[in-house]
Amino acid sequence: MSANLLLGQTLSYTGNPFVEGWQAVTRHNSRGGVLIRDGRIVALGDAEAMRIAHPDVRVTDYGDALISAGFVDAHMHYPQTAIIASWGKRLIDWLNTYTFPEESRFADQAHADEIAGRTMDLALAHGTTTLTSFCTVHPGSVDAYFSAAGARGMRVVGGKTCMDRVETTPATLRDTAQSAYDDSKRLLDKWHGQGRATYAITPRFSPTSTEAQLEALGALWAERPTALMQTHLSEQVDEIEWVLGIYPQARDYLDTYEKYGLLGGRGLYGHAIHLQDREIARLSEVGASVVHCPTSNTFIGSGLFDLRGLAVAKVKFGLATDTGGGSSFSMLRTMAAAYEIGQLRHASLHPAELMWMATEGSAQTLHMGGMIGHLGIGAEADITVLDLASTPAIAQRTARADSIWDALFPTIMMGDDRAIKAVWVAGQPMVSR
Ligand code: GUN
Ligand code: ZN
Repeated sequence: MSANLLLGQTLSYTGNPFVEGWQAVTRHNSRGGVLIRDGRIVALGDAEAMRIAHPDVRVTDYGDALISAGFVDAHMHYPQTAIIASWGKRLIDWLNTYTFPEESRFADQAHADEIAGRTMDLALAHGTTTLTSFCTVHPGSVDAYFSAAGARGMRVVGGKTCMDRVETTPATLRDTAQSAYDDSKRLLDKWHGQGRATYAITPRFSPTSTEAQLEALGALWAERPTALMQTHLSEQVDEIEWVLGIYPQARDYLDTYEKYGLLGGRGLYGHAIHLQDREIARLSEVGASVVHCPTSNTFIGSGLFDLRGLAVAKVKFGLATDTGGGSSFSMLRTMAAAYEIGQLRHASLHPAELMWMATEGSAQTLHMGGMIGHLGIGAEADITVLDLASTPAIAQRTARADSIWDALFPTIMMGDDRAIKAVWVAGQPMVSR
């Protein structure tokens, strides 16, 4: 494979800004270069020096656009792509009214294939190079997802959504404890580690599973400990009451997972807004990750994620769109929503922190730190190039900027897919504007 040298501004991280402070860990080069070969980043440096050192490579000069690691979406539902922005419901009613009927359509393999491909293309157009998705209860929805990602060379995480509780799950979306175990195991063994695919064991959330199903999936995770596990946790106050009604012995929501072997360092817990102190302590202790889904948390009316509090408690966190409960495919818009929620909590997130969450932070929740979401030597060459003047409104504001952060922040707050100048996946150009 030939080598490519990308020139522009470059932004990379040497550590976690929430731990070490953003000033200590950010590296910005206003005229930098990134050399990619065989799907990986092999050198970084000053543009002109790299041009001279590598005279025989193909050069793409992005001018003063910003070369970043590709965005990593740590929690989404590809089967909900077609129902994004559905009006007027809070979580439980939203699931019953819009989500479950749409997910039922994934019994049709052609529908699953179409939406999987559509979602990947929308993600790439928005600069997202890795998705972490719930599929539906149908095994074919998992095949559709990993096949669509494989066709595009994308590193993705996903798994069959498991749900078997009769009182809370429509018949069209119901499996059993045994079939969830059997299907998840077969799909895991088929896809996990195939190319760039990672399998996540996926109980939807405790209200739609029986104790027997949670136990079976906990057992599967113990048998296949390199797999990830994804679910939902403490998204809405009504939901928590519902969970504690169904599981009266549980100490709290997290306990409904912990009791059945579904709490661990490779676990991803979406939303995690209304947590008890015990839950925060346990998440931190086991090194589990929570995933902030800010556009969803405002759209569905769930609440204000306590990012600074969780950072202080040393809970790992990533950032995600939660499409289609989330209202945007864009991780830029998602960063903006995280900023707005921070403001409502009197914590102003710095642009360096926001970009870290959308790249390095999310990658770390997937145990892929240094591999993806990272503009550094040895990382896989999943790269997003941002035009920092993509609309007249942004351009006039950026013209006033006196630092890279001041130049980047208007794109974070006001940017969309028009700000995505180019996307590279595993060293291949996938999007170019
Ligand atoms: N909780 C259980 N399922 C879902 C889902 O599909 N979306 C959101 N936002 N929360 C959930
Ligand atoms: Zn979700």
